[in-house]
Order: sequence, then C-alpha cells, then structure tokens
Amino acid sequence: MSSAIDAGNGKIAVPDILARKSLLSSNTSNAGKIVCLTAYDFPTARLLDEAGVDVVLVGDSLGMVVLGHENTLPVTMEEMLHHTRAVRRGIRRALLVADMPYGSYHIEPAESLRHAVQFLKEAGAEAVKIEGGERRVELIARLVDAEIPVMGHVGLTPQSLHALGGFRVQGKTAETAEQVIRDARAVEAAGAFSIVLESMPRELAARITRELRIPTIGIGAGPDCDGQILVLHDMIGLGSGHIPKFARRYASVGEVISRAVSEYASDVRSGHFPSDEESYHFSAEARERMLTVRRG
Ligand code: KIV
Repeated sequence: MSSAIDAGNGKIAVPDILARKSLLSSNTSNAGKIVCLTAYDFPTARLLDEAGVDVVLVGDSLGMVVLGHENTLPVTMEEMLHHTRAVRRGIRRALLVADMPYGSYHIEPAESLRHAVQFLKEAGAEAVKIEGGERRVELIARLVDAEIPVMGHVGLTPQSLHALGGFRVQGKTAETAEQVIRDARAVEAAGAFSIVLESMPRELAARITRELRIPTIGIGAGPDCDGQILVLHDMIGLGSGHIPKFARRYASVGEVISRAVSEYASDVRSGHFPSDEESYHFSAEARERMLTVRRG
C-alpha cells in the first residue's frame, strides 16, 4: 500500500484526529472541525482527498448507494475489502477508515479480530468502524490491544435495523437518551479514538460531545459535534430512495449524468457521434498502399 506510505507532509493520522478534540474544546472557532465523507471507489476517493477531506470512510452504506441493496446487512467482507483497496489507491492525505460489515464482528472474538486485521493488512485501511455501544466494549478493547484504531458508532446503528424496528431517530426520551450516553461512554472507555453519533436530538449529541475526550462525528446529530460525516451519494444528488432531512444536497450529479447520457444516445442515433475528428485515419502512405492492393 505504497500510496499511503509515500503520502508526505500533511498526512492525517489517528493522533491528529484525537488532537482536534482539545483544539475544538479550547477554541470558539469551528475551523478545526473534522470533515468526513464516505467513498467507495478510486476516482471519488481522489477527489475527496484533493478537496481536503480529513477522514474518508468506506462505509457499508456501499450496500445501499452502490450495490443497490435495501439495507446494509447483505454487505460482505469481500465487498468491503475490494472497495477499501480501490479507495486506498485514491488517498494520500486523509485518514482511511473502513466499516466492518454486519456479521464480520458478531461472531467469535478471534474471527472478529482476524477480519479487522484484514482491513489493515490487505486493504490499507488505517482504522475500522464498529457499530454498537456497551455490548462492543470487549471487542473494541481487543482490537485496540492489537494496534487497530477503532471508530465507534452509536445512536442509530443501521446494522441493528431489525432490532430497532427501522431507521429511526434514537434517544428521543430521557430513558433512551441515557442509554445512548452510556453507549458513548463505553466506546470511549474501551479505547476508541473517535465516535460517530447518528440520528439523535441535537441536544443529546451536544451533551455527549461536551462530555467525551474523543472527537464526536455527527450525522443527523446537529451542528455541535466535533466533526460531520455524510454519505457522498446523498450530498451530491446521486442517491435514490429516501434521503434523510440532514443530508444537505450540494450538487445534482445524477442530473448531470442523465443529461450527458441522453445527449450521447441522441448523437449516436442521429449519426452525430463520432465525428470525423473523433475517428482515426490511415496515413497517406497506408491509404495509397491499400488502394494499390485493391487495384492489384
Ligand atoms: O456506512 C456509512 O456510510 C456510515 C456513515 C454514514 C456514518 O456508517
């Protein structure tokens, strides 16, 4: 994975992300906020990296926005490793985090560790993300002990879709909010270097952000987190189906692609593509020889 090793000055590593917490806590400026986005392939990873994104996550949202599944549960280790390798090739500066897919860490601890190791050893990830709070404490501690940096993820954890009864905002009552706080504390205590807070009241995310010593990365959790993450396809207008209200759209890439494809189809059907300038030609000598051969 030489692209990461050759990265040079400005490469963002796990300690840099941790250091942002003290910067943000001691400062009223938002300039140090951690900018995170998902990517699943080489060209978008390169664009994100060049635009200065701090953390690129190969999310298991891959299953929904790239592979067309209804939820993230069918995503496999092979698929996550394959896409993480592609993203690795596009990144020089950002920290690369890979999502552990459903089923890859819900089994024997040794098997879960082996899967996490694969992301670092075979795909070039620099950290893994794991969904869940209190019940993941032992696993997170074990991975951290094996030198694998872990990003936690609490609140709405999409892999718990069936247990939660749908993609619902979490922590809306005093009791459920307390559980989310316990989960966040547990993830920090287990040794995670940062934590995603997904779909919860702004006030709850703000409280967790004030309390924890590790940075919080919000998605549908309001503006008070230490950083923000969105699914790339939602924010560039390439998503389909239900787009959550927090996923601000910054571009309409889907419309750009549709327009380009319609124009191409129309040019092919009308004979306007390709033009003579877009075609290869014989040299004068080759043309002459062809004519000679035909005459002979
Ligand atoms: O899978 C994913 O993309 C995620 C982020 C949205 C946090 O988990």
